[in-house]
Amino acid sequence: APVKVSKICCIGAGYVGGPTCAVIALKCPHIKVTIVDLNQARVDAWNSPDFALPIYEPGLEDVVRQARGRNLFFSTNVDDAIEEADLIFVSVNTPTKKSGVGAGFAADLNYVELATRRIAAVATSSKIVVEKSTVPCRTAESMRTILEANSKPNCRFDILSNPEFLAEGTAITDLFGPDRVLIGSLQTPEGLDACQSLKDIYGNWVPEERILTVGLWSSELSKLAANAMLAQRISSVNALSAICEATGANIDEVAHAIGYDSRIGPKFLKASVGFGGSCFQKDILNLVYLSESLHLPEVAAYWRQVVDMNEYQKRRFSKRVVDTLFNTITGKRIAVLGFAFKADTGDTRESAAITLIKDFQSEKALVNVYDPQVEHEQIWADLQEASPLVPLDSIKKQVTLCKSALEACKNAEAVVIATEWKEFKEIDWEAVYAGMNKPAFVFDGRLLVDAEKLTKIGFKVTTIGRPSSVA
Ligand code: UDX
Ligand code: UDX
Ligand code: ADP
Repeated sequence: APVKVSKICCIGAGYVGGPTCAVIALKCPHIKVTIVDLNQARVDAWNSPDFALPIYEPGLEDVVRQARGRNLFFSTNVDDAIEEADLIFVSVNTPTKKSGVGAGFAADLNYVELATRRIAAVATSSKIVVEKSTVPCRTAESMRTILEANSKPNCRFDILSNPEFLAEGTAITDLFGPDRVLIGSLQTPEGLDACQSLKDIYGNWVPEERILTVGLWSSELSKLAANAMLAQRISSVNALSAICEATGANIDEVAHAIGYDSRIGPKFLKASVGFGGSCFQKDILNLVYLSESLHLPEVAAYWRQVVDMNEYQKRRFSKRVVDTLFNTITGKRIAVLGFAFKADTGDTRESAAITLIKDFQSEKALVNVYDPQVEHEQIWADLQEASPLVPLDSIKKQVTLCKSALEACKNAEAVVIATEWKEFKEIDWEAVYAGMNKPAFVFDGRLLVDAEKLTKIGFKVTTIGRPSSVA
């Protein structure tokens, strides 16, 4: 019969594990939820008395305020939390491998494996082990092999796959009302029981018809497939934006028109300077690697193209900036507004802004950067990682971090909008214009500002997916 879960352990207090398990704790006051991490600073931040949490996510603080200390705990004591739990989420990071077989494509499963081995070493009673991290197809099988080879007598391990579909910036609303919850299990009686135990947890707030139960492999592949298809939509619309710029069509009008087809749908069709985030590129490259390992080179090439198109979109945009500024930006000051990979997050992983700034640096421009959420230390770390051969001192001579959009735009030749922060829509563009060198250019990489209004002020406006002449 299904186990009634009373204690949950979550290994990994990052962007996925933190918000997900905080919401489970909020919605299930009868379950004790302990989120553990090896990173002491991160755990301290989760526990900080003034709620200076390690990640910025609208609504998160409120959830943590309500549940922390009641039935939600953050700790570095991994072993105790494993030992007492009935159910363990594994939400550790799975970055793309940087060296060895599959470098640049395959997921680095070292953290998953270490966490799995820890569970096997510590557990003295049966556990349901849930893989939450996005992992390649068939990882659950490896986890099962490790657990079974190392388990003590009377310890059963049932493995579930329960991929997380939350998007950053809307994590809490996504978790409160998910489109669906997906649970994969072996179709054995024990596997189905474990599945039911997890289903009962989500059943505390998610309507039953939104909880989908499938086989383990389908669940693992669905997560990769969902992200690949979402990214593909953006690359498709971005490919069309290049045609629009060359023809006089307007990508917003085109996206609006095709989105009305109920088979296509209106969401996720916003042309941009390129998608970023920790998931899209990583998951597609995973899918490419998987396809190649399965001797399916045509399938691999198909998905690979989604990432190639994204790289092209970023390059194309920075080239358009240079072309428009009379073919040189050497010594010119460029204000980059936004550094996060999307609005409402402080996360910068794979952010298009990093590539743009690097391109501007290579053209010997001076770059002012402003983002309302990203820590300055993070920006320096990202720029250093992007140009490992350039000393940080030299980077700091070219790049200046600013405290406001207005400050960043002062004495600049051009403003580049890289992230769709709402506040950039609302800045005093008249004041920005007054402070800039003339002619003053705006490059809107996010279809954010009203190009007609800015043109009236005097700006020369260039927008993704619109020809340059049309302001
Ligand atoms: C994504 C998936 O949406 C989520 O389901 C999964 O769990 C994790 O990966 P996330 O990366 O947090 O979430 O953000 P998302 O909103 O999907 O945006 C990804 C990137 O695409 C951002 O850089 C965003 O600006 C860009 N984007 C999104 C566009 O350029 N155009 C769009 O229409 C939508
Ligand atoms: C299509 C467009 O749907 C229509 O809007 C446009 O005006 C003309 O082209 P049509 O070719 O008549 O219409 O049929 P459609 O239902 O779109 O199917 C096209 C092909 O795709 C068929 O061979 C169909 O079997 C196939 N298909 C469709 C799939 O293989 N899988 C699907 O999920 C849907
Ligand atoms: P994600 O975006 O997938 O949540 P993050 O990098 O934000 O990824 O979070 C993963 C967290 O997992 C990190 O804080 C890391 O310290 C933690 N972690 C990795 N391996 C282990 C482990 N074996 N035990 C505990 N925590 C771990």
